[in-house]
Amino acid sequence: MVTKKLLIVILLPLTTSWSVAIGTGGSDKPALKDAFAGHFLIGGAFNRNLVSGKDPNAAAIAIKHFNTATSENDMKWSLIHPQPDQYNWEPADRFVDFAEKNNMVPIGHCLVWHVQVPRWTFRDDSGNLLTRDALLARMKDHIMSVVGRYKGRIKGWDVVNEALKDDGTLRNSRWLRIIGEGSEEKQYDFIAKAFEYAHQADPNAELYYNDYSLDTKKEKCDGAVAIVKHLKSKGLRIDGVGIQLHSGLDYPDKESLEYSIAALAATGVKVMITELDIRTRTRGYRGADISRINRQSTSDSNAADDETQQKLAQKYTELFSVFLKHKNDISRVTFWGVYDRTSWIGGSPLLFDRNYQPKQAFDAVINVVQNEN
Ligand code: G3I
Repeated sequence: MVTKKLLIVILLPLTTSWSVAIGTGGSDKPALKDAFAGHFLIGGAFNRNLVSGKDPNAAAIAIKHFNTATSENDMKWSLIHPQPDQYNWEPADRFVDFAEKNNMVPIGHCLVWHVQVPRWTFRDDSGNLLTRDALLARMKDHIMSVVGRYKGRIKGWDVVNEALKDDGTLRNSRWLRIIGEGSEEKQYDFIAKAFEYAHQADPNAELYYNDYSLDTKKEKCDGAVAIVKHLKSKGLRIDGVGIQLHSGLDYPDKESLEYSIAALAATGVKVMITELDIRTRTRGYRGADISRINRQSTSDSNAADDETQQKLAQKYTELFSVFLKHKNDISRVTFWGVYDRTSWIGGSPLLFDRNYQPKQAFDAVINVVQNEN
């Protein structure tokens, strides 16, 4: 009879060698961060399992390939500040520790957003909506606490995330309604105040505005340009704009992506590609509004087909060719995730597959930069 102990002795070497084999993220491949050195930083959004050691294979990919790190969720308001008098620092601390230990530039995401913000944020103890002044005070307290805690450690913050609608006007969020008080002159106030407070909390931190579909919708990109111009006209610090670039196999087209990079760079800020992925399912909504899409709605039974993988590689080739063409304006390219299984969308959106292996798309990205060098 095979005893439990004997089974462990037989199986342990097998599981160990398997996990080492899959954990290397393509041990024979060049590192992305080395391949793009001298052009721009290259990174990923990291989840809690990666930074806490529960997904060591994903961590191995990140350590080998990335020199910048964004926290995928743990710095969002509802996760880091779930109750008025309660901050949950531990996961965010782990993220910053992980990035520092592995020589990655840490990026904070995000301070003011209409998603993942608790209901209490906008209400007083009796449940009534806050006044403009009270909400500004609450916003200031949050930003001073979060940015202040990581002062000198987080290189740059997504200060305001996704404030624009697709038509380039401001989204009708509680931030806008309460702080803007329905007045045209005050419409940018919640954005301006967030940047002001972030700068006060860490005068050396870079400050960014971040949004999706800037690369596909000209009006929306123009709306982001207007935000930058407004902040600059008030003498406020803004260092960069993040084009999230949640893409698809047939979008964005090259021309509109180049338009967005050029238009944003012309305002004098750095452009960052902050949330890169390519969904393989071709039908359906194209933006990144989390209330409209998720893993299920973007799942793709053809994702692993050779034909799909070739198309994915071609689209990544096109995107990275554009990034390299505009490398003087682009300071960072960050993938939104590390490998397909833990991506926020379904299909096959990243460079590493569900088993941590580099895909054709990985080789395509390396080829683009090797041909350039
Ligand atoms: O923290 C709760 C946990 O307590 C609960 O048990 C669990 C049950 O579902 O949910 C957990 O929260 C989830 C959170 O991720 C952390 O894992 C939310 O339900 C889930 O909606 C959330 O999704 C994230 C989404 O933003 C909303 O914050 C995605 O992982 C993240 O990839 C996505 O990222 C956004 C960027 O921040 C901004 N741009 C668009 C991008 C894609 O939507």
